[in-house]
Amino acid sequence: MAHLPLEIINLEKSFGTGFLNLKKVKPVKGISFEVKEGEIFGLLGPNGAGKTTTLKMITGLIFPDAGTISIFGKSSLSASSRKRIGFLPENPWFYEYLTAREFLKMTGGIFSIPSSEIRQRTDSLLERLGIAHAADTQMRKFSKGMLQRAGLAQAIINNPDFIILDEPLSGLDPIGRKDVRQLIIDLKKEGKTILFSSHILSDVEDVCDSVVILNSGLIKQKGRLSDLTATSAGTVEIQTQGPEMKLSDFPEKLRDSIQIESISRGTRLIFTEENANKNEILSFLIDAGQNIDKVFKHNRSLEDIFMENSSESKQQEN
Ligand SMILES: Nc1ncnc2c1ncn2[C@@H]1O[C@H](COP(=O)(O)OP(=O)(O)OP(=O)(O)O)[C@@H](O)[C@H]1O
Ligand SMILES: [Mg+2]
Repeated sequence: MAHLPLEIINLEKSFGTGFLNLKKVKPVKGISFEVKEGEIFGLLGPNGAGKTTTLKMITGLIFPDAGTISIFGKSSLSASSRKRIGFLPENPWFYEYLTAREFLKMTGGIFSIPSSEIRQRTDSLLERLGIAHAADTQMRKFSKGMLQRAGLAQAIINNPDFIILDEPLSGLDPIGRKDVRQLIIDLKKEGKTILFSSHILSDVEDVCDSVVILNSGLIKQKGRLSDLTATSAGTVEIQTQGPEMKLSDFPEKLRDSIQIESISRGTRLIFTEENANKNEILSFLIDAGQNIDKVFKHNRSLEDIFMENSSESKQQEN
């Protein structure tokens, strides 16, 4: 059986800070998750949640205090697993006097890729990332978005099976974000596995297959995105046409669970399926002589899921 691209078990990391490093901060407090072959996996959470620390441990830049990381079934530190990974760090460091082409030649050289192949891959990557026009420009003249694209090209120059990107959308304008999201989807179509971090949940919703939501170094949610967002707690909106309705027209037991407002030719009702039965409400409306115009079911967004979790953890802390 093929090994998982990534399996993390009980990973922990703390840092010493302050005078003599005596004060400890613990950005990763024991997390476990796995990334399956061919999926786009989002490591999400607010600033300071522990995303970068986790990705640095996966890519071997820092060592965990406890826990295990395996990449394609091998230790994350083994040379063979390293070869199969591409990485875009959060703050990529560039030799700013190199041109984009020279930079990619240098990174390709680290992976001992033959120079003819580097040349060909460089051209196609710069084209694909929309910076072909600047291939021979020194990177100190690049804008932030161009640097981010050069960093992405660097992360995939070795044609890795498993691509790890720390905040690949940061610093990009809306078009740039769309391009990079498309690149991530295209890489998946080529059979790659992608793990990327983001603190902007809405940006990743239409891209990820699975997610982990981290907060304060702990996993708050994990699973397939479709399972997390499609939940019984979804919000339902019904629009009717007919005589204007007031809350007092509804049976008493429904009044606490629904919100209503009048719209141009009728009434809009909003409720969550957890609190009220959609079919019961629909039949009441029909009996009341209303014409059902529209019924929408809004899935929860990742933002909703995250907010629910952060308010729960605040309550626990208090
Ligand atoms: N080398 C370090 N020494 C001390 N503290 C650190 C170190 N690296 C990270 N931290 C702390 O660990 C916590 C998590 O940081 P991390 O960079 O992993 O968060 P993040 O989820 O990537 O956040 P962001 O969205 O801002 O990138 C922060 O409180 C940070 O200050
Ligand atoms: Mg980070």
